[in-house]
Amino acid sequence: MNFKTLHLMLCAAVSAGVLATGSAMAQAPIVIKFSHVVANDTPKGKGALRFKELAEKATNGRVKIEVYANSTLYKDKEELDALQLGAVQMLAPSLAKFGPLGVKEFEVFDLPYIFPNKDVLHRVTEGPVGKQLFTKLEPKGIKGLAYWDNGFKDMSANKPLRTPEDMRGLKIRIQSSKVLDAQIRALGANPQVMAFSEVYQALQTGVVDGQENTPSNMFTQKMHEVQSNMTLTHHGYIGYAVIVNKKFWEGLPADIRTQLEGAMRDASKYTNAISQQENDDALAGIRKAGKTTILDLNDAQRMQWRKALLPVHKQMESRIGKETIDAVDKEVKALGIK
Ligand code: LMR
Repeated sequence: MNFKTLHLMLCAAVSAGVLATGSAMAQAPIVIKFSHVVANDTPKGKGALRFKELAEKATNGRVKIEVYANSTLYKDKEELDALQLGAVQMLAPSLAKFGPLGVKEFEVFDLPYIFPNKDVLHRVTEGPVGKQLFTKLEPKGIKGLAYWDNGFKDMSANKPLRTPEDMRGLKIRIQSSKVLDAQIRALGANPQVMAFSEVYQALQTGVVDGQENTPSNMFTQKMHEVQSNMTLTHHGYIGYAVIVNKKFWEGLPADIRTQLEGAMRDASKYTNAISQQENDDALAGIRKAGKTTILDLNDAQRMQWRKALLPVHKQMESRIGKETIDAVDKEVKALGIK
């Protein structure tokens, strides 16, 4: 057992002890540590702070939410371990980070161009697929509470990316998803999985040449300062599952859990309502900073990117499961889009 695991187990033991003695110390608030990897000034960062405000108010101070933003507590992979061990109680990892946990179906959200817009996406997350995905987390000791939006991803590098061919040979940072790996390989580039907190430095030092992300994530991590070019490919989506340690959640007094569920519903509405504006503002910020040339694509160019990336759907079918992909396509058709 390494030091980190031992540390996590000790933290978990302390948290469990606090819960067990909760009734003896009637005054002490229940503490929920909410860890995440992005800046406060992003859809997820603002959502977490709004949840803190609403939850503390709804429970009349019986619950205290401690938000740890920007990977100050844990990085991507560590935070999932920490949640399972009970060292933190709440997270909102990107949907692209659930594959290593063994729930590969989540990677349906990473398929390039699968969501023509957020309406389709919300039909999926709020419908049977969203519910079923949460069920699959339960055997892992995790409970899903809500889905939060960030937005659509764009590509960046230190050279113009006009066509998919311009990606050839580049080293591109990705999140830990096999679908994203396949997507980058489909462009003839080399994917490198890396924690979000390490991306800025990797771009700055040339460990990787480029990355894909939402304008909000790029701007708040200052990636635009170390990327000369950005192309508005909108080729994929970044969103989150707000999750809790199942044992902790189910061990809460029922009245408190109901109040927290209400706070989460309202925080989720808020986050999803601000996500587009946050990304629009961030893109304007990148433009204004003047260090990155932003290329928008015309329809013909966009078709080229789609053509290069769509084969990934078929290629990843056996990993994600045909039923899950079909369920998304059904929602697309239901809105009369395809
Ligand atoms: C990334 O790792 O690029 C993003 O998932 C970070 C985040 O949580 O938005």
